[in-house]
Amino acid sequence: MPTRLSVNINKIATLRNARGGQIPNLLQVASDCERFGAQGITVHPRPDERHIRYDDVRTLKPALHTEFNIEGNPIDSFITLTLDVCPHQVTLVPDAHDAITSNTGWNIKKHARFLRNTIALLKTKHIRTSIFINPDPDTVRRAADTGADRIELYTEPYAARYPHNRRQAIADFIQAAQAAQEVNIGINAGHDLNLHNLAYFRRHIPTLLEVSIGHALISDALYFGLENTIQLYLRQLQAP
Ligand code: PXP
Repeated sequence: MPTRLSVNINKIATLRNARGGQIPNLLQVASDCERFGAQGITVHPRPDERHIRYDDVRTLKPALHTEFNIEGNPIDSFITLTLDVCPHQVTLVPDAHDAITSNTGWNIKKHARFLRNTIALLKTKHIRTSIFINPDPDTVRRAADTGADRIELYTEPYAARYPHNRRQAIADFIQAAQAAQEVNIGINAGHDLNLHNLAYFRRHIPTLLEVSIGHALISDALYFGLENTIQLYLRQLQAP
């Protein structure tokens, strides 16, 4: 099963916002990512618009030719935006206002009704839905009960443990992936995936449908260039 690479371009917006103006040009970078082989573009607008702005999301949609994934906390303004833009996929993330980056998955037991209603609303526009969760079989089953099409496994704990003991690092994710197969929900993954840990993750989760990668990929591009870097990541996903 091929795993798609979706490039998260939030860091490009962060760089642009540092000076105002349009350098680097977000639309150009997104199109170039696609031209260089990315199979999707991910953005994560936050309420304070400190990197991707809501306006960016609206202008990106008609410019893209691959899969558009919008992730974020489903506050009212986010839901209005996604219903308006109608991307291919919306990933629901429970990120706090002041979090530097997403740092945990949903407590689905607590938010089940809210998630179910939100997903039903997105489905009225035929938008594929994914829920960001920690790798726990019970949470995977609860995710399926919300009606979501996919889960996105929060891979920061995997990435943190990988250099010390990769077998231990992947163990919870293998169990979560098995649960996902049992309840027939698709699997995405993201957070801190990089050129070192990606191939091993993919090899042990062969049902992985998509990864969204931002921080490491854009940082690697400083050294290798964007085109080479995207090709390097694609190669990791195709490694046997
Ligand atoms: N998935 C989610 C839900 C995220 O919030 C992020 C970071 O914005 C990513 C994936 C990508 O993580 P990274 O930038 O570490 O590759």
